Amino acid sequence: MSEVILELEDLHTHFFTDSGEVPAVDGVSLQLHKGEVVGVVGESGCGKSVTSLSIMQLVPKPPGEIVSGNINFKGENLAQATEKRMRQIRGNEIAMIFQEPMTSLDPLYTIGDQLIEAIRMHRKMSKKEAKTKAIDMLNIVGIPRASEVVDEYPHQLSGGMRQRVMIAMAMSCDPEVLIADEPTTALDVTIQAQILDLMRDLNKEHNTGILLITHDLGVVAEMCDRVVVMYAGQVVEEGTVREILKDPKHPYTKGLIKSLPKIHEKEQKLYSIPGTVPKVSMEQVGCRFAPRCEYAFDRCYNENPSLYVTDKARQNRCFLYDNNDEEGVNDHVESNIRS
Ligand SMILES: Nc1ncnc2c1ncn2[C@@H]1O[C@H](COP(=O)(O)OP(=O)(O)OP(=O)(O)O)[C@@H](O)[C@H]1O
Ligand code: SF4
Ligand SMILES: [Mg+2]
Repeated sequence: MSEVILELEDLHTHFFTDSGEVPAVDGVSLQLHKGEVVGVVGESGCGKSVTSLSIMQLVPKPPGEIVSGNINFKGENLAQATEKRMRQIRGNEIAMIFQEPMTSLDPLYTIGDQLIEAIRMHRKMSKKEAKTKAIDMLNIVGIPRASEVVDEYPHQLSGGMRQRVMIAMAMSCDPEVLIADEPTTALDVTIQAQILDLMRDLNKEHNTGILLITHDLGVVAEMCDRVVVMYAGQVVEEGTVREILKDPKHPYTKGLIKSLPKIHEKEQKLYSIPGTVPKVSMEQVGCRFAPRCEYAFDRCYNENPSLYVTDKARQNRCFLYDNNDEEGVNDHVESNIRS
C-alpha cells in the first residue's frame, strides 16, 4: 500500500461543559494512505465531526480541547501546530468540506472573490482567467446562474448552494487530503451523484487521500477503499469495504448493515438498532455498546474492550474477538454471533 499521509494516534478531544467532561473523541487511531478513500461511519453523535474538526484544529475552544494524541501529517504533528501554521495548511494541503457550510465561507466577500483567491493560490492565472475557472467550477458543482452567483455574497445563496460552493472551493485547491463531512447529505440525488463523481476524479487525477464521513453505507460502498466504524467516540471496527459490508464482525456494525433497506426483500419493515447513542462520560465503565447489544454478557458491563486484531488484520473492539480469553468465557456467545 502507498505511504501514510495522515495518521491519528490515540486522539482524545474532550468538551469541558457545565455538566462535566465529555470525551467526545476517546482514543481514536486511524490511517489514511496517499490516494486512498477511507469512510468514517456511525450514527449521529458518535464523534465523526469532532474527529474531523480536530484534524483541522477547528474544535471550538472552550469548551473543546485536544487533550492528547497525535495528528501526523507528512512528518508534522498537527495537534501541536500553531494557528499560523494551521492557516497555511487549511484549504491548501488539507481541504475540508464541512457539514455546516457557513463555517468556511467568509460573509464579507463574494463567492467569486473567495474562489478566485483559492484558485490563484495553486495555479498561475490572471484574475480574469481565474474568474472564468471559478464560473466553470460553479457550473461543475451544479450551481444555476453561475455567472451571476460568482458576484453574490454567501448569505444570498440557499444552504444547498453554499454547500456546493464550498465543494468547488475545496476541490479547486488540489489538496493532498480532503476531509468531507457529510458532503452530499443536504443535496438532492442527482447533484449527490455529480459531487461524488467530482470527488472520485479528484482522487484519481491528483491522488488525493479522502476521509469521507457519512451516514450512508451506499456511498461508502461506491466510494471507499476502507471503512472505520465509530461508536460513542471510539473506533469499534475497521477493515476494507468489501470485508466490512460482506462480513461485519462487531455487533454494532452488524446492526448498521442490518438496518440498510434491501431492494429485493418483500418485507417492508426496516430493522433498527434498539436504543440510541449514549452521552459519553469520563466515569463510564464497560463496553459503550453494551446497553444496546444483543450479545452482551457480564464482562461487557465491567471492563472496557480494547481493539482486538482478528483475521486478515481486521480490528474489533469487542470481547467476542478477544483471543486471550483463555477461560473460554466468550465461546458460547461467539458461536451465537456466527450463527
Ligand atoms: N460544542 C460542544 N459542546 C459540548 N459537547 C459537544 C460539542 N460538540 C460536540 N459535542 C459532543 O460530541 C459528540 C459528538 O459530536 P459530533 O458532532 O462529532 O457527532 P457526529 O458523529 O458528527 O454526528 P452527526 O452524524 O449528527 O453529524 C456529541 O454527542 C456531543 O456530546
Ligand atoms: S464487548 Fe460485549 S457489549 Fe460490547 S459489542 Fe462486544 S458483545 Fe456487545
Ligand atoms: Mg457530524
